[in-house]
Parts: sequence; C-alpha cells; structure tokens
Amino acid sequence: MTSTIPAGVSAEQEAVEQQLIDTVVASFNTTDDPRLRQLMQSLTKHLHAFIREVRLTEAEWSSGIRFLTEAGHITDDQRQEFILLSDVLGASMQTIAVNNQAYRDATESTVFGPFFVEDAPEIANGGDIAGGAPGQPCWVEGTVRDTDGNPVPGARIEVWEADEDGFYDVQYSDDRVSGRAHLYSDDQGRYRFWGLTPTPYPIPHDGPVGKMLAATGRSPMRAAHLHFMVTAKDMRTLVTHIFVRGDRQLEIGDSVFGVKESLIKDFAEQAHGAPTPDGRDLGTRTWSRTRFDVLLAPHTV
Ligand code: BEZ
Ligand code: FE
Repeated sequence: MTSTIPAGVSAEQEAVEQQLIDTVVASFNTTDDPRLRQLMQSLTKHLHAFIREVRLTEAEWSSGIRFLTEAGHITDDQRQEFILLSDVLGASMQTIAVNNQAYRDATESTVFGPFFVEDAPEIANGGDIAGGAPGQPCWVEGTVRDTDGNPVPGARIEVWEADEDGFYDVQYSDDRVSGRAHLYSDDQGRYRFWGLTPTPYPIPHDGPVGKMLAATGRSPMRAAHLHFMVTAKDMRTLVTHIFVRGDRQLEIGDSVFGVKESLIKDFAEQAHGAPTPDGRDLGTRTWSRTRFDVLLAPHTV
C-alpha cells in the first residue's frame, strides 16, 4: 500500500511514519488465523495511508471518534447505525459486488438494508403482504428460474417494503407486522402477491449518519423500491430490490447506491375500477401492477 504523501513532508518525517506502520503490521505477524492476519494487516496499511494522505488533525481524529461513539449509542435491536454508515459510504454495495459476481444473466443483487425481519408471516400465492399498511395496492407477479430457464418450484420469496409514508412496520410505535411476508413459488416457478406501489423515502437520518449526510450536502432519500430475498436449494441466495421506472429519485440518486438498471421495472398504473387479475374488488381505488422474473445463479458461483 503506497500512500500519497503531500509535497512538503520531509524524508525524515516519512521514514518515522513508515516505521510506525511497519511496527503495527508486524504486531499481527503472530496471528494464528491467516485470514484474520491478512485482514488486520491490510486494514492497518489502508487506515494509516488515509491518515497520512489527508494529514489528519488531532481535532479531526477526535470528531471521528465522537462520531463512532454516537453511532454506538444510537444502535440497538431496532436501529443499526453502523450498517447505515456502511450503506451511505457504498461499502455495503462494494461487499455485495465482490461476493455476488455476475453469472450469465442471473438477477443482480443489491443492498439488504436494515429492515428485514426473520419470521415474517407466510402468505399463499396471490395473498396480500400489506397487512393494513397505507398505500396504493400493487399486483406483483413473476417467475423464479435458473439461468438455463428451468422453473424453480418451492423457492422461498421474502418480500418487504415501506408504506406510502416511507415507514417500515418496525418503525411504527406498536408491534404491528405489515408490509412484509414470505411465499413460495408454485410447481411452475410462478409467484404472485399484492403489495404496495413503492414510494421514495429517507433512510433514518436523525442520528450521526444523518448529520454526516447533511454536513456533506447529501440527501438521505432512497429511490422507491420493493425488497426481495429469494432462497432455493442449490441456488445462490438472491438479495435484491426492484425499483420504479420513472421515479424522479432514480435521476437524483439513491443515498445507498443500490440502483442497478436491470432492477428498474415498469409499475403500470391502473385506473380505478380496472378489473384486477384475481377479481379482488378495490372499489374506487387505483392500483398498479408489475412483473419481476427472477433468475437464480447456482450456489457454486
Ligand atoms: C432500505 O432499503 O430501507 C435501506 C437500505 C439501506 C439503508 C437504510 C434503509
Ligand atoms: Fe428499503
């Protein structure tokens, strides 16, 4: 790792700084686990390269420590400020890129986010995940197949999304479960459910990460999306979302860098009174529909 040391730093000073790096790196030489050794030595080199390149002041070092302390204080079972930090720095998406390399035309992955909950209720195909959450009904259908085009029956499909006000159920003040469920693809790999038409919303920005975004002139808004996690035997687990074509936030930018062109889908607006695919009576409400065909990579890639 070579750092970019600004001009004006003397050769003697550079040698002092390099000596410290060498000593810290060597302190991990006795680490038994080779992977842990590699991680710690590389982290040391990159961290020191950053400090040296920007000539970090002691006041800046202190505010960094204060920032991390505040992130720790606001983190609990419901709020994970460190994942948010990783998300807004693009570190989550970079880790996903490294670990989910493109395989033929398998569906692309994107950021997991902090709002997934284990044990969401099961619904039958055609069921409704909204659970009373406010928003425009949206009919979602598609298939789960492998990259040779064979249907994948019995794939577990977890879906979760925010309501029209931008809140997930875990952000409500009660224990309601809404806007999330799981279902299984049928014997031909098909699935369908009622959800809500996604709307843009801000990531939680009342903590240190929000302050950092404000200080750097960045928006906390996410492009409108619907989360999916698809698992099936012998297949690579897919964590992804679909985005809404035409959403203005797609042009402005997504605060966690999660958008991929292949994941932008048409959500076709349906007039009120338009017949629904399953005969559901929506009265005078408008609704939308979309299609998301999932291609799973084998678990070996
Ligand atoms: C979300 O998708 O809800 C999300 C993702 C990353 C950070 C915060 C929220
Ligand atoms: Fe989300």
